[in-house]
Amino acid sequence: MPLTKRFTLTRYLIEERRRFPGAGGDFNALILDVALACKAIARAVAFGELGGTPGQPAAKVGDVGGAVNVQGETQKPLDVISNQYFTGMNEWGGHLAGMVSEEMEGAYQIPKAYPRGKYLLAFDPLDGSSNIDVNVSVGSIFSILRAPQEVIDSGRDVVESDFLQLGLTQAAAGYALYGPTTMLVLSVGNGVAGFTLDPSLGEFMLTHPNLKVPADTQEFAINASNSRFWEPPVTRYVDECLAGKTGPRDKDFNMRWIASMVAEAHRILMRGGVFLYPRDSKDASKPGRLRLLYEANPIGFIIEQAGGRASTGREPMLGVQPTSLHQRIGLVFGSRHEVERIERYHAEPFKPLETTPLFTERSLFRV
Ligand code: AHG
Ligand code: MN
Ligand code: MN
Repeated sequence: MPLTKRFTLTRYLIEERRRFPGAGGDFNALILDVALACKAIARAVAFGELGGTPGQPAAKVGDVGGAVNVQGETQKPLDVISNQYFTGMNEWGGHLAGMVSEEMEGAYQIPKAYPRGKYLLAFDPLDGSSNIDVNVSVGSIFSILRAPQEVIDSGRDVVESDFLQLGLTQAAAGYALYGPTTMLVLSVGNGVAGFTLDPSLGEFMLTHPNLKVPADTQEFAINASNSRFWEPPVTRYVDECLAGKTGPRDKDFNMRWIASMVAEAHRILMRGGVFLYPRDSKDASKPGRLRLLYEANPIGFIIEQAGGRASTGREPMLGVQPTSLHQRIGLVFGSRHEVERIERYHAEPFKPLETTPLFTERSLFRV
């Protein structure tokens, strides 16, 4: 397609906005600021071992030994730099009332020098950061919420409860993927669009309009090293996938685990699949690994906008009432029929694979 015919992210946002007469430009300007932060992070990640991103401390991807964040995880310099890009590039525009980040314990207040706006931004500045030392894809995830009216009217500092909104109410959500190409995948509540960064222009170009997650799949993703901590419905589901053609599913499954949720979400958007990081018994203080406000909800919003499904296993993710900024939660998302099956297994009484007809004592498949 000739360059002149391609939609830039800016053009996409303007054309979307034309469908809503009376809409201000705030929202679009905010998304463009988020996109700029993502481009800056893409560049910092791409410098790799060379480090020395212009204007930034000389952090290299292999550097360790940063502070411990609120999650109890050691921050890598690129976690910190990515967080600085997000806050610094979004605080000045007058579109936000406050921000929340994986890397900051409390809500981030817009400095007094800048006007405050009507949106809230929650983000994971660098997802999959255990992968940065090994040059595997990482990403950023963001969620845009509307600030409560009273916050907008008063201009007061934001507090935790302002962010505790259902995922369903997100005004927009998206992620950037820093892989072989840098991509931005976005939903403003009207389907999902994917943009590829043209590095020579520094522009995100619309390359994947109207992304859809196929309803069926033969690919699943889970960290199997946690299997002894799983709950019975998850064990049943995975056992049935592993049994493949010889089990009740009657088809073989393929498995993937990248350990970057953004990359897994992207694969699922491209060709279907199901991702599970379920609630488990590994650590009683952590009901799940992933965080609701800036990981599960935005990815859930994108996946559902693409016709897939996102769930805790027990209830739709986007209907969960958040209780704290850094709340962790079990997450299952992807191809609709598989997620529905996993939900069914959670609702049904426990039924181990061995009791299904093909695996009974007298069965052909008895081992
Ligand atoms: P983060 O790097 O933001 O802390 O998130 C990493 C997450 C997610 O991207 C991935 O799916 C998961 O952690 C990997 O966890 P394991 O190391 O347990 O596989
Ligand atoms: Mn993450
Ligand atoms: Mn992170």
